[in-house]
Amino acid sequence: KGPATVSPTGQQTGTDPAQVAQGGEFLTTAHGARLKDTDHTLRAGPRGPALLQDHHFREKISHFDHERIPERVVHARGAGAHGVFTGYGTAAKISQAGVFAKDKETEVFVRFSTVLGSRGSGDLARDTRGFATKFYTDEGTWDLVGNNMPVFFIQDAIKFPDVVHAAKPHPDREIPQAQSAHDTFWDFVSLHTEAQHHTIWNMSDRGIPRSYRMMEGFGVHTFRLIGPDGSTSLVKFHWKPKLGVHSVTWEEAQLINGADPDFHRRDLADAIEAGAYPEWELGVQVFEDTEDQMFQGIDLLDPTKLVPEELVPVEPIGKMVLNRNPSNYFAETEQVAFNPNNLVPGIDVTNDPLLQGRLFSYLDTQLSRLGGPNWTQLPINRPHAAVNDMLRDGMHQTAVHRGVAPYHPNSLDGNNPFPTPADDRPFIDHPAPVAASVKERELAASFEDHFSHARLFYLSLSEVEREHVAQAYTFELGKCYEQNIRERQLRCLGAIDTGLAQQVAAGLGMPVPEPEEAPADVQPSPALSQVGQEWPL
Ligand code: HEM
Repeated sequence: KGPATVSPTGQQTGTDPAQVAQGGEFLTTAHGARLKDTDHTLRAGPRGPALLQDHHFREKISHFDHERIPERVVHARGAGAHGVFTGYGTAAKISQAGVFAKDKETEVFVRFSTVLGSRGSGDLARDTRGFATKFYTDEGTWDLVGNNMPVFFIQDAIKFPDVVHAAKPHPDREIPQAQSAHDTFWDFVSLHTEAQHHTIWNMSDRGIPRSYRMMEGFGVHTFRLIGPDGSTSLVKFHWKPKLGVHSVTWEEAQLINGADPDFHRRDLADAIEAGAYPEWELGVQVFEDTEDQMFQGIDLLDPTKLVPEELVPVEPIGKMVLNRNPSNYFAETEQVAFNPNNLVPGIDVTNDPLLQGRLFSYLDTQLSRLGGPNWTQLPINRPHAAVNDMLRDGMHQTAVHRGVAPYHPNSLDGNNPFPTPADDRPFIDHPAPVAASVKERELAASFEDHFSHARLFYLSLSEVEREHVAQAYTFELGKCYEQNIRERQLRCLGAIDTGLAQQVAAGLGMPVPEPEEAPADVQPSPALSQVGQEWPL
């Protein structure tokens, strides 16, 4: 263990980050002065009073007083693991990103999470699960910040505060802490009906996974890949678990949450410790990058829609093995900062309006969560590629930058040349055409179909899975105090499937209301009829 050093790029790089704080044999103050006693306050006489002069006491208590940082505004509860991603080379033609090259190994850190519960909530809540992966590639960090469900509640990021306010505990009593059984949630999803598709996934067995190791992951949005020749394609990312997808029943979830609220994080850590390393394949559904970015009538920019895998199969492009537990929860799992902005050459975003908003939100929230702009220097967030930026100073700066001219170009420190096509590939925002005039604050008509995909999902389930969905809606809506909210949600269920609406209404002891009507001009994709979808009802 050598002393902490400063790299040529100015980043502090000790070989062991813990060494900075735990390097010697003796207990010391934070300034390195050796201590004789850490159990007794300095006093005027054996029975006090305590003296202000006791620096060690003040430092110890004061540091403790400031140990907590804000939990994430969403996804506060999580568990993480380190691992390795290996490219198969099968995506090398469609993306120039080195991470996909054949047999290329890249270190990763994954954080799984629930969305709504606080940091101390139970693992088995009925909820969406986060599945965020940080790839420390040679070309910079790539974050694939996904969920275990392929669609999202809203289509436009401007509604994110609204959906989270509605789904988090009620402001007055802070009930419930980690599930969707309450009025504001059902009020929101029955008024903002684009949320019905994600909601039915939550009400299905997918909402209560057996283990993080047995969950699929989805990038949700459509991304754009850029090939070595500059050609582009649109893709949706999928993680497929080697152990298959498994859930528990609601009754099992209640028992497990009561007996062991840490069940999922324990399961992940125990499996890795035992050498049963969890494994996923990363795959892509590939679409032609057409001008309208539609696939057979399905708008690829609408994050509430999916493209059935029967129509566009998922092609495997690499595998990920998680093989090392974090050694410090706070330093790794809590301080890790994912960001959909973290892209590398060959991977780019699209105009999905939800994704576009995310590009602002993560960096912004991390400024307050991690106390200023320098969180990229935290060990878990440091890129494994060389860093050479002109960002300077700020709260918690740990780099000792060299030179006097933090601007580019300059004539004092020497300029680093920008890469040329001959020697390297810089990140280039893909020059996609955009509409020329500022549009009204409204979404495209192709975003207006809110029920056909929910119906598609429901019809894809087995009999027993449908039974679970009906039971989940009945239980959760049964917790709603407001009759008109239950009724409005029943109308939405009627627009998804009449039988489902009848079952839930019977369970709630309510009459079946008329189904919610889709706007007259809504045209569900003709592609859905190829996978058993009938429309209109
Ligand atoms: C956190 C996924 C939409 C804002 C997260 C995390 C995941 C995630 C997995 C946890 C990251 C971690 O483990 O640290 C998604 C997915 C979305 C989505 C898949 C939609 C497809 C949004 C939108 C916004 C947003 C629309 C805001 C406009 C946030 C914020 C955090 C977060 C503020 C906390 C980040 C932090 O404190 O480090 N999201 N999210 N998310 N998400 Fe999203």
